[in-house]
Amino acid sequence: MKLTQFVNIWLLFVTTVLAVQPFKKVWENTQYSRVIDVGKSFVKERHDIQVTNIDSEPAIQYLFGLPKHMSPDATLVVAIYATKDGKRALLKPQKIPVQDEDLTYFDLKFPYPIAPGSTFEFILSFMITNQMVPYPEHIPMEKTQVIKLNTYAYPLTSYDTISYSLDIANTKSVTELNLDDLPILFEKVENERSVSFVASDLIEGNTVYDFTFTYPRNLPLTYINYLQRDLWVSHWSNTLQLEEYYELTNHGAKLDKGFSRSKYMTESIANKPHHAITALRIPFDHSKALQYDSIYYVDKVGNVSTSQYYENELIIRPRFPIFGGWNYNFTIGWDYKLDQFVKQQDDEYIITTKILDGIQDSTYDKVNFTIYLPEGAELLDYALPFAVAEPTITNQYSYLDVESGHLKVTFEFENLVDEMKNLSIVIRYKYTTYAMLHKPLHAAFYIFLALMGLYVLKKIDLSIKPNEKSDKIESEEVEIIDKDEKSEN
Ligand SMILES: *[C@@H]1O[C@H](CO)[C@@H](O)[C@H](O)[C@H]1NC(C)=O
Ligand SMILES: *[C@@H]1O[C@H](CO)[C@@H](O)[C@H](O)[C@H]1NC(C)=O
Ligand SMILES: *[C@@H]1O[C@H](CO)[C@@H](O)[C@H](O)[C@H]1NC(C)=O
Ligand SMILES: *[C@@H]1O[C@H](CO)[C@@H](O)[C@H](O)[C@H]1NC(C)=O
Repeated sequence: MKLTQFVNIWLLFVTTVLAVQPFKKVWENTQYSRVIDVGKSFVKERHDIQVTNIDSEPAIQYLFGLPKHMSPDATLVVAIYATKDGKRALLKPQKIPVQDEDLTYFDLKFPYPIAPGSTFEFILSFMITNQMVPYPEHIPMEKTQVIKLNTYAYPLTSYDTISYSLDIANTKSVTELNLDDLPILFEKVENERSVSFVASDLIEGNTVYDFTFTYPRNLPLTYINYLQRDLWVSHWSNTLQLEEYYELTNHGAKLDKGFSRSKYMTESIANKPHHAITALRIPFDHSKALQYDSIYYVDKVGNVSTSQYYENELIIRPRFPIFGGWNYNFTIGWDYKLDQFVKQQDDEYIITTKILDGIQDSTYDKVNFTIYLPEGAELLDYALPFAVAEPTITNQYSYLDVESGHLKVTFEFENLVDEMKNLSIVIRYKYTTYAMLHKPLHAAFYIFLALMGLYVLKKIDLSIKPNEKSDKIESEEVEIIDKDEKSEN
């Protein structure tokens, strides 16, 4: 039933797309201002677009593209517009099943149809990971890292663009590698913290050209291949325990020669911005009180003492600087009081936590987010700000679990960046007072049984072991015999 419904909707959608001729030039981009922010280790783009309906009928659908090789790395693709009462509202563009050699297309539905001759303004915003490449790949330890970025030159729409500017923000210096190959000239202006390129002429729709440039950025490209984020919920101790296991790589420039500690010391690299990772900063949520003395930081070798917690920020200092291409795996953990996260109504609980605590300026390729609910709990519902596959639900035994074990709920996320750290996951579950009482009662029972067992074992030991063991036990045997004699007496 569900599947057929889905197929029907899908067919309807495809036919609608075909019916309205998606690539018809119903719009003109009257103003198109694009900003590429290169201040972090991933790309952030913001396009301020004003469109005019140049057709003879009202229009509501706007199509735009992203290069095919980039689109798997694009995340949080949203459009924002101002409503009539001045508030900001969000639109979610959808990928459409239209094939093209170079581009993936997105369909953006405006909130209402725009009349012929009228304009609509909106902001398109997204982030793209995996785009920054050190250039050259290998450099000496003391040299400044240069990053190469390969992007596209003009708006990726089939509509003509009357006025277009491209700003590279958060860098003072940009070197273009292919400016001369571009059909529409750019006028370059260098500003205090950005470099602007202004198109000298109208850009026809479907003018697809690469634009490649370099800029200095002497900071690491912190990349987390895998994060396992575990949350343990305990109503009994009123704690929310977090443990995070990281597999991290610096995607920054590699050393051209082997690592030299003396050079590292004389250049005092640890004390200035550098392409090696010397510290990782995790700014925590100010609104939640963390239990300071519960923080730990462990790597393959053992406890690492060089971490600091200061003004709600955890600063982790690895044992060695992590240069480009180097890996580092580690685990950190800390506790919160649970009641800051949970709301209860009768037997139902709602827990709201962040999907990430976010290492500053980093990309997360794969994240397994697991929440361990108490034994006997039942997952009712969950909510996330973006679509993900259904979670995997299993049971996991831990200390003192007696029957089915903790309820383990795992969500798999991909392609996150630290700026998504404020996004929350909300989980609703049922946990009856019976289940809550059940565990300690059971535990008490098993502890009792265990003690009983010990008692019995002691009895057995005393009677069986004497012949193979030491004098001490023999003397105990004697004692027993004595006792026996006494009791006989
Ligand atoms: C690590 O340090 C904590 C206290 O800071 C201690 O309880 C724990 O036993 C240590 N672990 C190892 C493996 O040294
Ligand atoms: C980190 O973990 C990954 C995956 O398990 C492994 O391939 C890599 O060798 C580890 N790196 C270090 C430095 O231990
Ligand atoms: C992440 O979780 C899924 C589902 O539980 C599991 O299949 C997968 O192996 C996990 N990934 C890693 C690297 O442990
Ligand atoms: C997350 O929220 C806190 C306040 O709750 C704010 O200070 C911080 O700037 C936000 N971080 C991001 C990356 O949006």
